[in-house]
Amino acid sequence: MWWIGDWLNHWYPEGYVDRKVYNRLGEVTGMAKSQLKLARTICKSIKLMTRVINLSFKHHRVVASEPEERQRELLAWAVGPPRRTVRELMAHKKRTAITESDPDDLHIDGPVRWGDALKLMPQYSENSFHLIFTDPPYDRDHLKLYWETVSIAEKILVPYGNLVMYAPNYGLEEILKKCNGEMRYWWTIAMKHSGKTARQEGKGVLVEWKPLLWFVKTGRLEDKEYIRDFIVSQEPEKKVHAWEQSHVEAEYCIEHMTRPGDKVFDPFCGSGTTLFAAQKLGRKPFGIDIEREYVDYVNANLEQSNS
Ligand SMILES: C[S@@+](CC[C@H](N)C(=O)[O-])C[C@H]1O[C@@H](n2cnc3c(N)ncnc32)[C@H](O)[C@@H]1O
Repeated sequence: MWWIGDWLNHWYPEGYVDRKVYNRLGEVTGMAKSQLKLARTICKSIKLMTRVINLSFKHHRVVASEPEERQRELLAWAVGPPRRTVRELMAHKKRTAITESDPDDLHIDGPVRWGDALKLMPQYSENSFHLIFTDPPYDRDHLKLYWETVSIAEKILVPYGNLVMYAPNYGLEEILKKCNGEMRYWWTIAMKHSGKTARQEGKGVLVEWKPLLWFVKTGRLEDKEYIRDFIVSQEPEKKVHAWEQSHVEAEYCIEHMTRPGDKVFDPFCGSGTTLFAAQKLGRKPFGIDIEREYVDYVNANLEQSNS
């Protein structure tokens, strides 16, 4: 099963596989189309490094829909000793299922969790965070992260919570169209770059500022406190991450949109600029990143500055 699933994913990494391909593979392997499709799905969901040789494909099938971290944890339990049956693994998975819970319950290994934010964010309960301040990747392939984040944020923010996202100017039209309705678009804060001016090729624009899109869940609680919509930034150090942002705008928004002790969340946290700012200002930082090295870096350094 593994080899055929990996073969299909290698030659057809995205989407559609022609019926003729399945027919021909069926003749060669003796497998039904449904088995081939299943092999493809499982192989896609479970990375090579996560698979356990001493466990069957069926064991892996049980854990395939889980986030990577949890797949590892369940497979390690199943391989034992003692080695568990598929049925025992299913029962264990059910018993230990992570249901919606508080950030503190989910962040058992540190303020930053490793994994895909779109899979991990829905695990938080309603009203978990006061502010989500984040900076998803800018390229077209990742643009959907913006509207997906807005849609999940609506649930996990407290009623008067705020969501602030750096956004690429070229994508604003599409982002705002697709974010429509789930949270209220409130304002755009301009972050004035310092340092060299970048050129936006194909648009003929010299880029002097970056938009921070601001959404609210229900409105502004502190409507007497005015928030500036123009922040003069500093050049980020970019010591740890190629896309590192300056701490200036994170600190400004955290200070003016939350109170000490509030929970601040960055689901695409990279080198942890938001989280270090939150900690500095006495807020509780929580983050996610898909790259293990950033997760380890931020967890280690936040712990250090805690101790
Ligand atoms: C623009 S960078 C954030 C940089 C950050 N603001 C800083 O100051 O270091 C975007 C981050 O999102 C992470 N990322 C990309 N896709 C992701 C996903 N689906 N789930 C979680 N993190 C993701 C990348 O690994 C990267 O670190």
